[in-house]
Amino acid sequence: MDHDETALPLDTLLADEYRIDGILGSGGFGITYRAHDIKLDVDVAIKEYFPRDFASRSNTVTVRPRSKGEVEPFEWGVSQFIEEARRLARLQHPNIVRCMRYFEGNDTGYFVMTFEEGRTLDAYFPRPPQQAELDNLLKPLLDALEALHAAGIYHRDIAPDNILVRDDDSPVLIDFGASRQAIARRTQTVAAIVKPGYSPIEQYDRETKLQGAWSDIYSLAATIYSVIAGGPPPDALSRVRNDSYVSARDAARGAYRREFLEAIDWALQPDPDDRPVTVREWRRKLLPNPSSTKAAATAMTKFAPASDGDSRPLVERLLGKDGVGKLKSTLTPKSKSEPGSSPEDGRRGLRWPDYVLRGAALVMVGVFLFRVFAGKEDVAETPPPAAAAPVAIVADAAERNLPALASNPDGVWNKIAFVLRRLGYLNSSGTADVSSIRTALKSYQHAIGRPETGTLNQEILNRILDENVELDPYFVPGATVYGRWFLAKDAERCDITTGATRIEGRTIATERPTLRFGRKRASTGDEFEIYLAKSNLFDVTAPINLSAGTKHEPLLVDGEEISMAQDPDEKWSRQVTRMLRKHTGDVYITGASPYGGTLRFSFPTDGFEPAFRAMAAECGEGILYWIEDWGAVAKDSGAVVWSVVGKGNEAEAKEAAMAKCTARSDHGGCEAYASFHEQCWALAAGERRKDDWASGWGADATIDSAKKLAIEACEKDGGKNCEFITHICADGSNEWSAN
Ligand SMILES: Nc1ncnc2c1ncn2[C@@H]1O[C@H](COP(=O)(O)OP(=O)(O)O)[C@@H](O)[C@H]1O
Ligand SMILES: [Mg+2]
Repeated sequence: MDHDETALPLDTLLADEYRIDGILGSGGFGITYRAHDIKLDVDVAIKEYFPRDFASRSNTVTVRPRSKGEVEPFEWGVSQFIEEARRLARLQHPNIVRCMRYFEGNDTGYFVMTFEEGRTLDAYFPRPPQQAELDNLLKPLLDALEALHAAGIYHRDIAPDNILVRDDDSPVLIDFGASRQAIARRTQTVAAIVKPGYSPIEQYDRETKLQGAWSDIYSLAATIYSVIAGGPPPDALSRVRNDSYVSARDAARGAYRREFLEAIDWALQPDPDDRPVTVREWRRKLLPNPSSTKAAATAMTKFAPASDGDSRPLVERLLGKDGVGKLKSTLTPKSKSEPGSSPEDGRRGLRWPDYVLRGAALVMVGVFLFRVFAGKEDVAETPPPAAAAPVAIVADAAERNLPALASNPDGVWNKIAFVLRRLGYLNSSGTADVSSIRTALKSYQHAIGRPETGTLNQEILNRILDENVELDPYFVPGATVYGRWFLAKDAERCDITTGATRIEGRTIATERPTLRFGRKRASTGDEFEIYLAKSNLFDVTAPINLSAGTKHEPLLVDGEEISMAQDPDEKWSRQVTRMLRKHTGDVYITGASPYGGTLRFSFPTDGFEPAFRAMAAECGEGILYWIEDWGAVAKDSGAVVWSVVGKGNEAEAKEAAMAKCTARSDHGGCEAYASFHEQCWALAAGERRKDDWASGWGADATIDSAKKLAIEACEKDGGKNCEFITHICADGSNEWSAN
């Protein structure tokens, strides 16, 4: 940033300890410096109280009120500034900037913060990020905000420039506007404390009465909006008169969950009363794993200790035929939990019928989320990928000697244009000509501290090949979209495909490698294959791995494409499908780059399972096998049922359910009750006559059809008005997965 005349000169020593190294920012109420703690030899950020409206600097360092009348507001402001530093110092949160010290000097106040190496949010996301990246960032940010609110502090100035993203991709909140607000209240300078587009309407009022968590929620929503839509919503004042707000759904320039976009619209309601009141409330809609998930997992674990290997903790006790009457008598309309109901209050000491019902509620919450994310209509329009740069660059003599350039000039120059564009040095649209690429290259060289020659050498080329690159949303023309997966079929084959969304490491790929699960009609019968297309990007003489979470699996290398298996009975393929289905977030394929170093692609799992199911439904049942697990239910003589899911075959599932029943039942007399390899198992019951209950179960790919089958079975059993009681699903989605 240019040197500000009112700021302290560089090299000024503050408190005999901090050397001013630069100016990071200067707002209406303060100047932020980059400084060096010369004793500890670390960089710090220092904020100086400097209210521009009524202060000036005399003899270069001392800050003075401009006039006598301004002495009082100036001093009062200092006290507010200290107050803010104190509150901040008390907070220790990994995602809130750490305030280490407050001191006075030059007749004003300073507070010293940890210097956070990173980029502001807008620099971090020069283009609309992907859902998973946003989720990863928002989780800790919401936690930070919640911690802040719990400490009675409101940030009041959340905006892209006040969120730093560290090099490890974790966010940190900086620049608390609380004291500014207090100062503004005294000094009538409201304009200085609102940030048009980000501040909610209540912050335009000097009175802070109407401000609360919902005000920060508005600003954070506006911040997300600006990141996904390319700019903030209209200024809150203008929205009161004539609201030209375009919903997040319409404005988003990428594919995001429908719920997520709706949560943004909700938080951006002009009227504070219409917004979420707490971060907690908002988080449930905004993020896929609301805080309830943690509670759900804990509650679930309590219901079913994960001691039996593969079986996942699901609703463990369901009523058997004889016990249905007991359950029915406890059913009240309220206790039939709705999908959206929160399981958070599922705590210790529940009596058993409640406990059964709560379990059912948890399962239903999961199904609800699963549906929402799986639906095709939930994917926002994805913009077309940016046109590749047609490159016709005449390399100069030195450039011609670079081996990569000699062997693949177009690829190399395309990659350079691509990276420079991604990094913001080249215009993001249109075509790039020779001179604009060279000019952009100069800016890049400047940014990395190299001579601005505008020509390539090996070092610059390596550096560019090493830049991590995110790719545009991926398309398969004519395909059905499931999250980030695409189902495309023709007479010969049926594929679900996703493209890498990020490439890290040395490659000249500008095209997107794809991960594909295909079913091919062959003379010997249908073949199932999983492969990575464009495997020539890797050095195939070195091992290549697929990983998700903590699991790592080697990929088999098979010529041009890396195939994971050709044989449907191969255990490995099944593991890959499981991995993709159970893991939320990205999976990585890592190997050596032919240009040296490692190369890593990441692929999203988002939408994999629904796409896989659709592939099975439309292209043949055999495929479903890959994502099915066997589940079984055993019943004891007291009509308590014990279930397991996630077993490889029926016998194994039955055995596990029986073992569980035998080990834990108080009644004994365990017998196998049901087994299923469909996604969901449902139980229904109805009264034949007074106190004589019929029941039936059904299992199918969706909960709705399982329910229908259960009701039919119950009717067959003689039940009248058969009603659905509860269900369990073998779905691996993490709403109820233990790991
Ligand atoms: N602790 C810090 N570590 C690193 N950079 C910081 C830190 N605090 C502020 N900055 C940088 O300085 C800029 C201005 O600081 P900020 O506290 O937001 O003041 P203001 O918004 O009043 O200018 C920020 O946008 C950020 O880039
Ligand atoms: Mg700021």
